[in-house]
Amino acid sequence: MAMTPKIELSAVTKSFDANHVLKGIDLTIAPKESLVIIGTSGCGKSVLMKCLNGLITPDSGSIKIDGKEILGQGRAALEDLRQRFGMTFQFGALFDSLPIWENVTFRLHHQRGLGKSEARDIAAQTISQLGLAAAVIDRYPAELSGGMQKRVALARAIVDEPEILLFDEPTSGLDPITGGVIDRLIVDARKRLGATTVTISHDMASVRRIADKVAMVHDGVIIWAGPARNMEKSGVPEVHQFVHGLSDGPLTREKILSNKAHL
Ligand SMILES: Nc1ncnc2c1ncn2[C@@H]1O[C@H](COP(=O)(O)OP(=O)(O)OP(=O)(O)O)[C@@H](O)[C@H]1O
Ligand SMILES: [Mg+2]
Repeated sequence: MAMTPKIELSAVTKSFDANHVLKGIDLTIAPKESLVIIGTSGCGKSVLMKCLNGLITPDSGSIKIDGKEILGQGRAALEDLRQRFGMTFQFGALFDSLPIWENVTFRLHHQRGLGKSEARDIAAQTISQLGLAAAVIDRYPAELSGGMQKRVALARAIVDEPEILLFDEPTSGLDPITGGVIDRLIVDARKRLGATTVTISHDMASVRRIADKVAMVHDGVIIWAGPARNMEKSGVPEVHQFVHGLSDGPLTREKILSNKAHL
């Protein structure tokens, strides 16, 4: 018998008015798999990721977690679902008014009643694993560099050991060394926690380090998905252009055409 996928999307659509972003996404992610989503800017990667944990509600289709449909569920079920996910957002999203320890342990401290001193200890331990000094826990987000904030966001995503981790461009804007540290952490989190991870990245070096499976979004659908080792030989021109970072190809030709359409 085939194993039940951890996450299974079928024919998922999402439009914002006339902007048809997701036109029928089909995608399967196995338990403990590390999937990386690639695709050009604005193609709908972040929207797709937010559909997974209920931050965005698709217009139609099906999303199953452990074989159970999550679309059309009530608020309470959605809340339960979110507890099973950890996520880092593309653009920060730390609480500016809270110190780092409280940012990192927000869920443990405020929702699960973990005491302050324990929460502080766990926060210090988790951010140390990410190469930040433990003393950082008493600072505020605005006092940290962009890369430090990204690591704090990562700490917050993994601290309560969720089953599924979603990382929206976790290494973009970081130097290659820090980016490498974060990649290793994503791989570790999966091994150590047994988590299923979904990461959005356009950094091909990073994709090669963390992905078991790669899926490319283009024009509202998954145009190719397969094992990371097959991504160079997908036989799909758009994937070829993206993976090799070529300036000329179907992705850029379409862009020039659609830009002209706006003139
Ligand atoms: N809340 C929203 N309301 C209206 N439109 C939205 C919303 N969120 C996203 N969109 C639109 O959906 C499309 C896809 O956006 P999305 O953020 O998913 O792109 P992306 O693939 O993550 O791009 P990037 O690589 O630049 O982060 C864009 O046209 C965007 O304007
Ligand atoms: Mg995005």
